[in-house]
Amino acid sequence: MFGKLFKSKKEQVKLFYNTDVHCHILPGVDHGSPSVEHSLEMLKAEAEMGISRVILTSHVTAVSFENTRETLMDAFIKLKDAVSDAGMDMDLYLSAEYRMDEYFDKEYAADHLIPMPGNHILLENSFQQELMNLDELLFDMQVKGYKTILAHPERYSYYSRRRKRYEQLHNAGARFQVNILSFTGYFGEEARDSALWFVRNGMIDFLGSDMHNVKHAHIIMDYINSKEWKKIGPMIEPTIKNDLITW
Ligand SMILES: [Fe+2]
Repeated sequence: MFGKLFKSKKEQVKLFYNTDVHCHILPGVDHGSPSVEHSLEMLKAEAEMGISRVILTSHVTAVSFENTRETLMDAFIKLKDAVSDAGMDMDLYLSAEYRMDEYFDKEYAADHLIPMPGNHILLENSFQQELMNLDELLFDMQVKGYKTILAHPERYSYYSRRRKRYEQLHNAGARFQVNILSFTGYFGEEARDSALWFVRNGMIDFLGSDMHNVKHAHIIMDYINSKEWKKIGPMIEPTIKNDLITW
């Protein structure tokens, strides 16, 4: 009886899929999680949202984060051990988020990419301008058997002025991964508008957290508890392929 006098903590709404395909939870390899402890906190937040499988997509960029399978493997083993010691039921998979730059060209030519299962590769454009030979690269990669996923297309402001380009890229076989953070306005109104444009046009293939820290995780958790998400989540669900990536 007295229990009713106290407001109980609202239960966390769960996502409608179990696989996060984009995050920076691997510790100490980019500007994401700084430590194994922080990574565990991020994974606990993922679990609260219903995520049980996480593809670790650390940055690979020229000069700042020239990661390879070897540089990432040490952190991956440490995190897997920590997850198992903590008794967490969380499946981890090692991949990467590739900025399409001169370092990527080198790694791609040497056949050193770290794809997700099913040969999916997460690709990032420069935020200043689209890669000059993007169409050729996407075509070449697809011929080689890769499934190309463009990371957060809503965040490249040069596309928001020419959204026809999204349709061209999608028709050319690029899959789109939109960040949940973009809906929250975290990356500004332009990115939010574009994210909502993707919802209206049914062009979201994957959703990702792209979380770099626990703060990001909490913003996403609050957002999926919102009325807006309750409305747009079911609009996105039919085209989402996150759980089709299995390992
Ligand atoms: Fe990212």
